[in-house]
Amino acid sequence: MRRALSAIVIAATVCAFSTVAAVTPEAAIALDDGQALTPPMGFNNWNSTGCAIDEKMIRDMADFFVTSGLKQAGYDHVNVDDCWAAPERDPGTGRLRAHPERFPSGIKALADYVHSKGLKFGIYTSAGTQTCAKTMPGALDHEEVDAQTFADWGVDYLKYDNCNNEGRPALERYTKMRDALKKTGRPIVFSICEWGQNKPWEWGKDVGHLWRTTGDISDGYVSMLNIFKLNAPLAPYAGPGHWNDPDMLEVGNGGMTDAEYRSHMSLWSIMAAPLLIGTDLRKATPQTMEILLNKDVIGVDQDPLGVQGRVLRNDDGHWIMVKPLKDGDVAVALFNETDTTATFGTTAQELGLPRRPAYVLRDLWRHKEAETAGAISATVPGHATVMYRVRPRADWWRTPPAADLGLVVSPTVAGIPGTITPPGRAFTAKVTTTNLGRIPLILPSLRLSAPTGWSIQPDRPARRATLGTGQSLSAEWRVTPPASAPPGTAGLTATLTSQNGPSRNVTEALTVPAAPPAGTSDLGAVAWAWASNGYGPVEHDMSNGGPKPGDGKPMKINGVAYPKGLGTHAPVQIVFYLAGRCTGLTTDVGVDDERDPRTVPGQSTITAEVWADDAKRADSGLRTWQDPATTLTADLTGATFLRLVGTVGGDTNSYDRIDWAGPVLTCKAA
Ligand code: GLA
Repeated sequence: MRRALSAIVIAATVCAFSTVAAVTPEAAIALDDGQALTPPMGFNNWNSTGCAIDEKMIRDMADFFVTSGLKQAGYDHVNVDDCWAAPERDPGTGRLRAHPERFPSGIKALADYVHSKGLKFGIYTSAGTQTCAKTMPGALDHEEVDAQTFADWGVDYLKYDNCNNEGRPALERYTKMRDALKKTGRPIVFSICEWGQNKPWEWGKDVGHLWRTTGDISDGYVSMLNIFKLNAPLAPYAGPGHWNDPDMLEVGNGGMTDAEYRSHMSLWSIMAAPLLIGTDLRKATPQTMEILLNKDVIGVDQDPLGVQGRVLRNDDGHWIMVKPLKDGDVAVALFNETDTTATFGTTAQELGLPRRPAYVLRDLWRHKEAETAGAISATVPGHATVMYRVRPRADWWRTPPAADLGLVVSPTVAGIPGTITPPGRAFTAKVTTTNLGRIPLILPSLRLSAPTGWSIQPDRPARRATLGTGQSLSAEWRVTPPASAPPGTAGLTATLTSQNGPSRNVTEALTVPAAPPAGTSDLGAVAWAWASNGYGPVEHDMSNGGPKPGDGKPMKINGVAYPKGLGTHAPVQIVFYLAGRCTGLTTDVGVDDERDPRTVPGQSTITAEVWADDAKRADSGLRTWQDPATTLTADLTGATFLRLVGTVGGDTNSYDRIDWAGPVLTCKAA
């Protein structure tokens, strides 16, 4: 397996470079300087602060790296992003100066402080006339003086952006900075940030130590997913000293669930991506720290073999990623892109592992080891990732048999996530365990538990005497939340116990939705039961804006302003609970005027649809940024759920901000 993978790496690399030989920089000054032999790790402020940065934050991060164990876990760079410099260069020397309010002590003092903690210091500028935020000069045509300034300050890492580049060739601009850095004599990790526009994976190896492969990440599942999909196929181009960079981590910033953040961390690690923390660690929750400090997962990212994991298979959003490791182990990530729980996986045979009666399977999020006869599979909830380290070990028999455990809640209404469980309404929970091990599982027993007051039928566990290799035990329970169940979340937990394996459980977080208000209401003020939005959160009474809550603009469709409504971004789906009590919805829909002024006809296209349970009741048809709003009227009589669905309309989702403007919901009293 290891041999097979490295053969692919070599073949693809050779092929890549032969096709770009004409633009490949001179080999004599190629990088290969022993830096970044594993993907860089550390912190960068941009994803959490934007320009609102100051020296105190950077010092706090350095302190926190030491006290929290992050430094010990391998995070060693503390990097400053855009907006750190004064707007003008020093008129005498032409050098950059620190921003007087944000960094009053100067950059040298800050770098010294970071160094005093045993950490490295990184800085940022752009291969343009100004940086992206346009508050400070860029380094274009000032490469040597800026590189020397950075070296004099003790900078260890430079992120070099692409804004305001005057249309000059990327290779030329980035090569100039490479040479300027080299001339200083100080080892500085060079991070190329040209967003994948000029295929930097084809020339980046000779210019920098890592290169961004995509546009900017934002703190949402769709953004993380899109970037993963663009970066994954580039695996052959990465290796020690030269890495694909799918952008910095969003873990902890609040726009994704913990399961999604674990997927983010798992996928970045199996892709041997740089791990640059992008959250304000002073506010990090224990869950965030647990994700960032997962040494098992970090070990996959930092494995010295330095191979970027490849896609073994993707069947309808069930991704299997595989990364060979230096000691002969193989890391496998099972990522479920879809919204629904699914069981999938691979085998030791498919991975080309040496034939053995069994293998040790280390679960890198549960930190448990068990033996498998060959199946490397799992039941993975939607958006989640199970990550294993597969170890061909002779003493596999010391570990208990690996048992997969899955809990699937079937939807009360087709097309609606099963995790939305209205009060008083029965649903089915199916629990399955499969023995993946060589050793039989003795006396397996499955139980289900729900909050007090919920009914579970039948009221008994499911048992079996033994489960041999590959055998499963399944049980179904009928679960009913009480009619008086308060709105909010509730946990449903399945537990597996056996005589020869550790007990384990899996919990599904259910949402008990609130009943709709009687009379006519502004739908924007009604709490939804579930939402998935293409860019950041759904906004109230403003356009979708960007990745952060509350960052939209006043809602406007083709010049017409709307004070009320929901600001969304395709692909979007919002589910409201109607309890069969509502009769209709009327809303204007259209593409919001908040978009790139360079949008051309044919871009920014969407459709907006209104669904009552599994029936479509209104459809805008294709709308573009040039169209005025259109009014949708939908009959909702008798429906349990209302769904607002916005699609990307056939193109990409770029600037697909959909407004549901002035939406009025009409319901009867209970
Ligand atoms: C660009 C980069 C980001 C960030 C900002 C700063 O968008 O891609 O990572 O550095 O600039 O303005």
